[in-house]
Amino acid sequence: MDFTLKDEDKLVQEVAQNFAQKVLKPAAKQIDEEEKIPEHILDQLRELGFFGVCMPEELGGAGLSFLSYVLIIKEISKACASTGVMLAVHNSLTCASINKFGTKKQKEYFLKKLISGEKIGCFMLTEPEAGSDAANISTKVEKINDKYIINGGKIFVTNGGYKGYGVLFATHDKSMRHKGISAFIVDLTENGVNIVRNEKKMGLHGSYTTVISFNNLELSKENLLGEEKNGWPIAMFLLDASRITIAAQALGIAEGAFEEALLYSNTRKQFGKKICEFEAIKFKLADMALRIEASKHLICHAAWLEDSGKTPIKEASMAKIFASETANFVTKEAIQIFGGYGYIKDYGIERYFRDAKVTEIYEGTSEIQRLVIAKELLKNLSTS
Ligand code: CAA
Repeated sequence: MDFTLKDEDKLVQEVAQNFAQKVLKPAAKQIDEEEKIPEHILDQLRELGFFGVCMPEELGGAGLSFLSYVLIIKEISKACASTGVMLAVHNSLTCASINKFGTKKQKEYFLKKLISGEKIGCFMLTEPEAGSDAANISTKVEKINDKYIINGGKIFVTNGGYKGYGVLFATHDKSMRHKGISAFIVDLTENGVNIVRNEKKMGLHGSYTTVISFNNLELSKENLLGEEKNGWPIAMFLLDASRITIAAQALGIAEGAFEEALLYSNTRKQFGKKICEFEAIKFKLADMALRIEASKHLICHAAWLEDSGKTPIKEASMAKIFASETANFVTKEAIQIFGGYGYIKDYGIERYFRDAKVTEIYEGTSEIQRLVIAKELLKNLSTS
């Protein structure tokens, strides 16, 4: 078994790492405090092609592998997790949906502007009564002649505040649950779309988490993504792959916090010696490194399966659980190694801790991931 990265993946990782460490990391504190990613950073991400990483070159995309994409999200998140999730949702939930299920016209009109980064994409699935139970959505679509009229609202919309393009899920008949849902591509500047607010959060301050309502939003068949009432498989297909990128975001956060803690433990002295010379700290560092390494293997394996054209449902969920729990473990231990300084904002270590938590929640909680894994295991059992 060869664990070496291909030259192309290695090069992409180096480019992402270079940008992340030289440009993004020094800006991460400001992004956290000002609660937005500055335009000059967005411009550099556009220039790097990070708004269309796996998208076809003929549409302006970079045409890279899923593994390269995952490495980019990891490196970016290591420096600034808010920027990581902005890119992850844009690439794997918005661009990927139109690329896979959109018509030629939708690709020309919507996807090209997403790939260039002129428009930033979002994914509008979650509602107050439809979080883990995603099929329980109430946002209603009524078909009147050739028009689709949308009423309702969405919450927790990552990137909603950019007012770009989004993929919206609405139900024709709530009693049909997942069999009554259609997906639409929506321009968030249309009449009938109301950006209610960007939520104040514990972490990921630089990423917009938006509440959006729809009041008689009028859409046409040009907006319909895939077939009518076939939105659910689209949502599931996207989330299956996207969960690998949230795992990569969590890994980036863990690596960032670990490297800071490792360096600090080698400089901080107490009782006349460096704290890394104490067994208590050595054990912490070893456990942190162990879980990071294991996360990396789960993520790269899931990404490799994705690149091989398989659908790694179970492996994506495993990677997401393990990496997000690792991020929470590692960032907590990193603060402990920093001691009192870890609790002080200027040291920058507490931001990793605040940013890590949500990786166990969004794109399916760890509890939902365990249900997904169990379902896959039992499915295989019943067919063998
Ligand atoms: N992949 C593909 N298909 C799946 C699937 C999966 N992972 N899970 C279920 N399905 C299919 C089933 O095969 C079934 O299909 P058929 O009707 O053809 O048989 C159908 O979906 C319904 O299955 P269930 O009855 O099992 O569905 P359910 O309603 O009981 O629950 C669930 C399914 C997996 C729990 C789903 O609701 C889910 O994934 N919930 C979590 C939602 C989520 O991840 N939200 C994230 C929001 S986006 C976000 O967070 C982005 C961000 O901001 C960062």
